[in-house]
Amino acid sequence: KSGRYPEGGLHHEILTIFHGRGEGEVVSGEELSGLLHISRTAVWKHIKALKEMGYAITAEPSRGYRLAGAPDLLIPEEVGRDLSVTRVGTRIVSFRETDSTNDVAFRLAEDGAEEGTVVLADAQTRGKGRLGREWASPPAVNLYCSLVLRPPLPPHAAPQLTFLSAVAVARAIEENSHLLPRIKWPNDLLVNDRKVAGLLNEMSAETDHVNFVILGIGVNLNMAEDQFPTGLRHPATSLLIESGSRVSRTVFARSLLKSLDSLYDTYLKAGDAPIREEWLARSRMAGEQVRVVQQDVELTGRVTGIDGFGALLVRDERGEEHRVLSGDVKI
Ligand code: BTN
Repeated sequence: KSGRYPEGGLHHEILTIFHGRGEGEVVSGEELSGLLHISRTAVWKHIKALKEMGYAITAEPSRGYRLAGAPDLLIPEEVGRDLSVTRVGTRIVSFRETDSTNDVAFRLAEDGAEEGTVVLADAQTRGKGRLGREWASPPAVNLYCSLVLRPPLPPHAAPQLTFLSAVAVARAIEENSHLLPRIKWPNDLLVNDRKVAGLLNEMSAETDHVNFVILGIGVNLNMAEDQFPTGLRHPATSLLIESGSRVSRTVFARSLLKSLDSLYDTYLKAGDAPIREEWLARSRMAGEQVRVVQQDVELTGRVTGIDGFGALLVRDERGEEHRVLSGDVKI
């Protein structure tokens, strides 16, 4: 059973009725059948299906059904519940399993998906990392998320959105743990110097304007040490490994989408300066001495900032400023 979870539909309606009733309230089968215009048997079948998804629904003899608990699933009914956003997350598309949420989002965007559409998956069969690498994507433990944006930008300004997503992930980690996330240029998030999240942005553009950007975000939430592939280039970790406690994927996804939404709103109104500032503070790289290793050149100097085109600014000993666009940065 792979593939897409339905958007809307009867499951959605049944859950909406339960949630509208308040915690622990009993709803009778008769009432459900009336509200949904389906037979009592059909109600029972849908309740059974919801239970199979992990919803704790108890049957109270001669009274009805009671919703006693929800599964930690990245589905619209759970992630989208009480989510007050203006753009990011207004539509959520979820999969039990897919190749790559970035590829799905890209295809949806090509077909005209609205700005703010979010694609989530429980597992990915071909999770993509940067530079053609693989992103380990086992089921049930992590967050795999891709977002469609249609910013009014020329293509060379699109890297600004990587900074935006890095800041949003850092905020979400801070809200959901007592860990101190740190952004590593260009697009890694570290906790205790080990990589906990990665960003992969892709875009479709003409010479002078962006059609759409896909912000791909992978966060290792509850992954165990033995679930990481061997031979990783950089040490990787998860929030569970670093903090010792599990993070609810639904709660984390909700807080990430809220941060993305409010940062994108700021970005559209005030440009990238406020985001660059927060990025720099969260990177804890400002003023730091770094060593940048590019193919055959090496540069040491102090980080003075990032620019509007994705470059890291490094001032060397002679006071000369360099724009670093690629390479490995060591602190
Ligand atoms: C990296 O650090 O190399 C980037 C990793 C990005 C992984 C995320 S998971 C969700 C989205 N779908 C993908 O296939 N990749 C990104």
